[in-house]
Amino acid sequence: MRFPAEPFKIKVVESIKTTTQEEREKLLKEVGNNIFDIPSEKIFIDLLTDSGTSAMSDRQWAALMVGDEAYAGSRSFYKFEQTVKKLTNFGHVIPTHQGRVAENLLSSIIVKEGMVVPNNSHFDTTRANIEYHQGLALDLVIDEAYQPEVDHPFKGNMDIRKLERVINKYGKDRIPVCFLTITNNSGGGQPVSMQNIKDVKKVLSKYNIPLFFDACRFAENCYFIKTREKGYENKWILEIANEMFSYADGCTMSAKKDGLVNIGGFLALNDEGLAQKITNLLILIEGFPTYGGLAGRDLEAIAVGLEEVLDENYLQFRTSQVQYLAEMLDKENISIIKPAGGHAVYIDAQKFFPHIPNYQFPGQALVVELYKRYGIRSVEIGSLMFGKTDEKTGEEIHPKLELVRLAIPRRVYTSMHMNYIAEAFAELHKDRDKIKGMRITYEAPVLRHFTARLEEIN
Ligand SMILES: Cc1ncc(COP(=O)(O)O)c(C=O)c1O
Repeated sequence: MRFPAEPFKIKVVESIKTTTQEEREKLLKEVGNNIFDIPSEKIFIDLLTDSGTSAMSDRQWAALMVGDEAYAGSRSFYKFEQTVKKLTNFGHVIPTHQGRVAENLLSSIIVKEGMVVPNNSHFDTTRANIEYHQGLALDLVIDEAYQPEVDHPFKGNMDIRKLERVINKYGKDRIPVCFLTITNNSGGGQPVSMQNIKDVKKVLSKYNIPLFFDACRFAENCYFIKTREKGYENKWILEIANEMFSYADGCTMSAKKDGLVNIGGFLALNDEGLAQKITNLLILIEGFPTYGGLAGRDLEAIAVGLEEVLDENYLQFRTSQVQYLAEMLDKENISIIKPAGGHAVYIDAQKFFPHIPNYQFPGQALVVELYKRYGIRSVEIGSLMFGKTDEKTGEEIHPKLELVRLAIPRRVYTSMHMNYIAEAFAELHKDRDKIKGMRITYEAPVLRHFTARLEEIN
């Protein structure tokens, strides 16, 4: 079957409240068109993120009950640690309460002023953590990633020539680590091939630069390797994951994605000295090394989630549900990043609203309109999230693409929900000429999209 049915039955349901357009318009006014400030009860379909929004399984809920809440040496920690080790083979596993803390711990120790960190594409928290420590975060993804219409099986790949150029330009001593984000969230949820991982590792090994994965969606990446890369079609997902992690020196992980839980994360690595320094900092800001900001029950749920996510039936359904939505939008002539990502469909907002220039935030205009008319929450990944003012020239810098992400929570919505979203887009597309651009009326100095206020330009 091209689009397999959900490989699960629904045991518990959560009702969704509906709102009127009038109510939603009032709310948007109150929050300055910032979708992050809309109470979730006022949302019909929430595609803001796939992070921390998964439905846990009956096995995970059962695991919560056996959580060991000891401050030190919790049984749940050892189970969690063993699961992560089985998956990654890294020697040290450091729990954190979410992914950005893992990034913060690592950056605090290894990133100093003037240092450079390459990545295929940095996620916003990864970039912010590096820049906070006065480092330079560089995106070195292949050019195809910036061409939404170009179909490429591994659009998350790093451009090896760009990587070598960066190493030659800045010198290996200024590059404390190189990241690969698997799958590449900011670049459309696109996977990285095993071959590319090997090639990146080969280059880095020449210069003794460690490779870390931003591994939030490692299982979805493995499934794409299995289905798209020659030689992997008959391998188990765990085998593929093991091989993938064998090329890295460590990873940061938000378990809120492929850990199938609502909170949690970790940092895993081989370097003992670095692990020691990170652990010392962990105690200061998160907690004791056997809980790291999590309850014992959370660690239990992650351990089960990390096993369940390797189930091929689940991964097949998961990726094809995203594909199903993407194909429906494509049929309606909505420009999307092709192929569909592992966790989300990305709309090319600039093509959706060709009459709204990038400095008037076409992506945010689409986000606002989707909510106003249909109660759907999405998120802008464009000039609002990544645009900034050049400190030297005062010029506005814009990202290459103005995207809107429709992130699909794991095991939460059904195919009928996907149909509703596609119909909403089809209707809005016909009416798109009437939609206006926006301007910012308030912005914070970092991660402005979370708190910015905007108004429509009349
Ligand atoms: C690629 C990537 N890295 C890091 C993070 C940060 O994880 P967290 O939200 O758990 O801090 C995210 C979250 O969405 C992500 O998608």
